[in-house]
Amino acid sequence: MKIVLSAEQIQKRVKALGAEISVAYGEKDLVVVGVLKGAFVFMADLVRHITVPLTCEFLRVSSYRDNRSTGTVHIDFDVTQPIEGKDVLLVEDIVDTGHTLRYLLEHLRGKKPASLKICSLLYKENDPALRKQIDFLGFTIPNRYVVGYGLDSEGEHRALPHLATLS
Ligand code: IMP
Ligand code: MG
Repeated sequence: MKIVLSAEQIQKRVKALGAEISVAYGEKDLVVVGVLKGAFVFMADLVRHITVPLTCEFLRVSSYRDNRSTGTVHIDFDVTQPIEGKDVLLVEDIVDTGHTLRYLLEHLRGKKPASLKICSLLYKENDPALRKQIDFLGFTIPNRYVVGYGLDSEGEHRALPHLATLS
């Protein structure tokens, strides 16, 4: 495994993201919605650097890929509190093709939040239009498969404190 981002680099950036988010929301109450499983490590660190009052929600999705570029996204379980009229921050581990993000945005918009913003730890350099949709971004990384800091390969390596490429 080759380290792409060290634990120190990640922690420094997550702290700065927390500060950025705190400034952006000011006095507003926030609902932070984490996408399981990948975002759980990032979200745990992130919320401890956000200084505005917040509540935490989670949802879980699975994506099925076939040979075509389209993926199908399925919600395994949803948020449990109403988010209508709330300021919602969706927290993702990584935005790759953007299928998951597009699906989740449509899904959450249907619940009529007052606002909906996106925070992703990672963005894989694919589509520059996608980058613009991410309101708070940790790092842009090359288009390679990475594991660690919550991200897995067939369920493994989520507990690594750093981010690495396999092989
Ligand atoms: P997208 O729908 O193609 O944007 O992919 C988003 C989801 O795919 C993420 O939430 C991850 O769970 C997974 N994913 C994409 N790239 C990677 C990677 O390099 N490592 C681990 N998971 C990834
Ligand atoms: Mg995932």
